[in-house]
Amino acid sequence: MTKLVPVEPFDIVIFGATGDLAKRKLIPALFHRWCDGQIPNDTRIIAASRDKLSNQQYCDLAAGHIPAAKSGFGEKWEEFCTLLHYIALDVEGENPGWTELSSHLAPDQDKIRLFYLALPPSLYGSVCAAIGAHQLNSKNARIILEKPIGSDYDSARKINDCVGEVFAENHIFRIDHYLGKETVQNLLILRFANSLFEPMWNAGGIDHVQITVAESLGVGSRAGYYDRAGALRDMVQNHLLQLACLVAMEPPASLDAEEVRTEKLKVLRALRPITRETVAKEVVRAQYESGAIDGQAVPGYLEQLGHDSTTETFVAIRAHIDNWRWAGVPFYLRTGKCMKAKRSEIIIQFKPVPHDIVGAVEGTIHPNRLVIRLQPDEGVKLMLMTKDPGPGGVRLRYVPLNLSFADDFENGYPDAYERLLMAVVRSNLSLFMRRDEVEAAWRWVDGIAHAWNKGHDKMYGYASGTDGPSQAALLLAREEREWFDAPFGQ
Ligand code: BG6
Repeated sequence: MTKLVPVEPFDIVIFGATGDLAKRKLIPALFHRWCDGQIPNDTRIIAASRDKLSNQQYCDLAAGHIPAAKSGFGEKWEEFCTLLHYIALDVEGENPGWTELSSHLAPDQDKIRLFYLALPPSLYGSVCAAIGAHQLNSKNARIILEKPIGSDYDSARKINDCVGEVFAENHIFRIDHYLGKETVQNLLILRFANSLFEPMWNAGGIDHVQITVAESLGVGSRAGYYDRAGALRDMVQNHLLQLACLVAMEPPASLDAEEVRTEKLKVLRALRPITRETVAKEVVRAQYESGAIDGQAVPGYLEQLGHDSTTETFVAIRAHIDNWRWAGVPFYLRTGKCMKAKRSEIIIQFKPVPHDIVGAVEGTIHPNRLVIRLQPDEGVKLMLMTKDPGPGGVRLRYVPLNLSFADDFENGYPDAYERLLMAVVRSNLSLFMRRDEVEAAWRWVDGIAHAWNKGHDKMYGYASGTDGPSQAALLLAREEREWFDAPFGQ
């Protein structure tokens, strides 16, 4: 087992502590890091929310989301709860909660202090202003903002301006939890710690790239938020574009945060704008209808919502990165809810061999393909051509060279939020989005959203439990390509 290096003791204030994110992700992440000895006991977790709860009531509420499988769970949880302090604080307006928070934090002005805004982005500006007004932004204070930062370029700029009035950019940690996933980090290692790929990693060697983030769940209890966002704003603006950046960026000089973020920004700025004239050809938007997932009947999106809506739950995009490396190489991005299975995958399809010298009696030559599976069954697979052994002429087979994380490495690496929280304590900004990145991503996404607003917004349907609408398949088929949807093991 790898030895974990403990972080310095810190205070973390979680605003929105009774919300879904705090209960499902943040408190469990802190608990797991503490169980593994990475968080020292003189750390304080201050859970703030407007509900009137005692410490014990909050601990009981949060306990419901800790997987009971952890050994010694009961005792450990009780001990962990001594780090937890609950404060009833309504972030909107002046109220005694702020005074209580100030007096809690006052004795430790030099301690690392994190403010986690697990709140709607519309509150980011006012909460930062209140933190400033109560002089809580001590010199070691850092702010953590959940995505989405705004709902378009203008609102993102406003939020960034307000937050920037209270915190310097290198104290602002904008979370995209995909950047905390083990396999996403491994993408950088795969590209830059192996000499094999780089000479081919360009328009000369690569035919196209596919990035799929498919989910089998619907919108569930988040329908209120989701119906205002849709797949484009909820997933493409952040997770899918960040993945595209890591695939497409030039090698940074080092893994230093500014180097990496500057290279990602160049990719975002090189994305070819999608306009009213091109949107119908480059983008497919769709909504899930009733169907079945894992043998269970699933109602359609509108049925779940209980009212009409023009929000997309699926989007597929043919994107282009207009620079030397990627000229003419389409990046196909696709994400949706209520699809056949949960699956996040990046596929790099290399160019075919220029000439077939084999003349096989069976099988044809397929181009090499690199499959990077982010979840589930994390792994990397390189598809190669080989000869079926034995006599009887050349019979070709397309076979995987497989690296399965579960089989080849020790199990149990930390969840994305665990890694990201520890990175904030260590002040490592490389896993977080810089202001200009977020704004550049919004500029590109806004092009699509604006085109939709101008009536170029044809909505297709797809049955729940499928790979999406047939129009998404056509997006590739008209260029004689197809989505690769085979299960990872095949
Ligand atoms: C979130 C989106 O950012 O990512 C959700 O808001 C989505 O709608 C989730 O379900 C997917 O994350 P993961 O880690 O489960 O792939």
